[in-house]
Amino acid sequence: MLQLFYKPAPILEESGPGWFAPARPRPYAKRPPPLELALAAKRSLISPWQANDYTSTYGSIRLFGRQVFLANSPETVKYVMATRHDNYERKSPQMRRALEYLLGDGLFISDGETWKRRRPLVSDIVHKNRVPTFGLTMEAVTLAMVERWRARPAGEPFNALTEMAELTAEIISRAVFGNHLGAGAAHQVVEAFTRYQGLIDNFNFGYFLGADEGLPVFRGPRLRRAVAQLDRVIDKVVSDHLAGHGEHNSMVDLLVKRQQKSPELGLDLSALRNEAATIFMAGHETTAAVLTWAWYLVANAPWVEEAVLAEIDRVCGGRTPTVADVPKLDWCRSVIEETLRLYPPVPILARQAKEADRIGGIDIDPAALVVVAPWLLHRAVELWEHPERFRPERFLSERPAPYTYIPFAIGPRICAGLAFGLTESILCFAILIQQFRVRVVPGTKVEPASRLTLRPAGGLPVTAQPRG
Ligand code: HEM
Repeated sequence: MLQLFYKPAPILEESGPGWFAPARPRPYAKRPPPLELALAAKRSLISPWQANDYTSTYGSIRLFGRQVFLANSPETVKYVMATRHDNYERKSPQMRRALEYLLGDGLFISDGETWKRRRPLVSDIVHKNRVPTFGLTMEAVTLAMVERWRARPAGEPFNALTEMAELTAEIISRAVFGNHLGAGAAHQVVEAFTRYQGLIDNFNFGYFLGADEGLPVFRGPRLRRAVAQLDRVIDKVVSDHLAGHGEHNSMVDLLVKRQQKSPELGLDLSALRNEAATIFMAGHETTAAVLTWAWYLVANAPWVEEAVLAEIDRVCGGRTPTVADVPKLDWCRSVIEETLRLYPPVPILARQAKEADRIGGIDIDPAALVVVAPWLLHRAVELWEHPERFRPERFLSERPAPYTYIPFAIGPRICAGLAFGLTESILCFAILIQQFRVRVVPGTKVEPASRLTLRPAGGLPVTAQPRG
C-alpha cells in the first residue's frame, strides 16, 4: 500500500560515437529518509543508493533500529567475505526467510555445520571437470533454440528474458535431473520456481524492527501450491534414483550415489531434494539474467558485435561453436565478464553478523546486516575507468585487481557453479550471436530491477534476424 506513494528514481542511459552507458537508476544526491529508503529497497535492491555509495568506501547507518554496514572497498570486502568469513558466512534473514520454504536447508541459505558438510559435496557435483560433459547438453539445447528462432516470422518481437530463462532452465534441468525428465515435468519445475519468486517478499520489515531472525514469510495458498508442485516433481526424480531407476550422470544421480557410498553424510529424501532444488535455482536464474543483459548491451554496441563475430569466424570458421572452443573465444568471454560487471545477477550479497566486531574503526553489532554489493563495487569510480560504460576490452588483456570484481561472490562461499555458469553463458551467447542479429525493439525503456536476481523489469523485447 505504502508502495503507491513511492516514486522510483529516473533511469539514466546515454550513448555517443563508439560508447554506450547502459540503463541504471539515478543515484540519490543524499541518503533518503528511512521509510523512502525501505520502499526503494523493497521495489528493487539496486535503487536505494546515493552517489557517495558508488565510490570505494564503507560506512554504517541505522534503518529503523537495525545497523546496516556497507562494505564497498576491496579491503572491507576481503575482510567480510574471506578474512572473517566465520563471522559473516550467515545469509541475511531476508534471504533465508524468502527462500527457506523453497530450499529448506539447501546450500544457498545454510550455514554452520550443515553448510560445511554439504559444500564439498555440491562443489564436486558441479565441478569444472564435469563441465565438458554438461557442455554437450548446452550445445544441443541451444541449437534447438536456434531452430525455433529460425522458424519464427522475420521481425516478430519476443521477450529475450523469457527465452533465455527457458534456455537455461532446460540446460540445468537436464543437468540436474537427467535428459528424460520430460518436457511436461521440466515445465512444471520452471513454472513453480517462477511463481514462487513472484509471490515472495524480499524485504523483511520484522528484521529491521528488531526480530533478529526476521519474521516467517506468510504462506498463502498460491505459495503452498507452487512449493507442492515443485516437491512432487523433484521427490519423484530423487525416489526413482534411490530405487535405482534414475539416469546415470545427472547431478541427482551423483548426489544419490555419494549418499549410498557414504551413509554418514545423512542425506535423506528431503536433503537430496533441497540440494537438487538449490542447484536448479542457483544455476537457472543467474545465467538467464546475464545472457539477457548481454543481448541488450551488444545490441547497443555494434562495434563490439563486429569484434565478436570476427573472433567466432577466426576460431570456428563456418561451423557452430562448441564447448571445446570456449577457452579460445576471448571476446565472447570479455563480453560476458563485462556484462557481469555492469549487471551482476546477484547484485547484493547480504550477511548477518554472528558476533560483535569492528571494521575500519566502526563497531559492528551482533545480528547487524552487513552488505557487500557487487552492483556498487563494480561501478566504484576509483576502481574502474568510465565505470558506467560498456567496454568489454577492459577484460581482454588485464584481470581486475583483487576484491574489485565479484559477480560470483568471493571467499569460501564463492559460487559453486562458477565454471558451469561462465562456460554456459559464453557458449550459448557464441552459438546464438553467430546465427542472429538481436536488436532491442525501438522505444523500449529498459529498467534494471532486483528482487532476488537483477533483471530488466518487465523483460526485454527484442527481434532476432537470421544472419547470412
Ligand atoms: C553466471 C551465472 C552465475 C552467477 C553470476 C552466480 C553467482 C553466484 C553468487 C553471487 C553466489 C553467492 C551468493 C551469496 O553469497 O549470497 C552463488 C552461489 C551459488 N551458486 Fe552460483 N552463479 C551462477 C551460476 C551458477 C550455476 C550454473 C550453478 C550450478 C550449476 C550455481 C550454483 C551455486 C551454488 C550451489 C551456490 C551456493 C554456494 C554456497 O553458498 O556455498 N551457480 N552464485
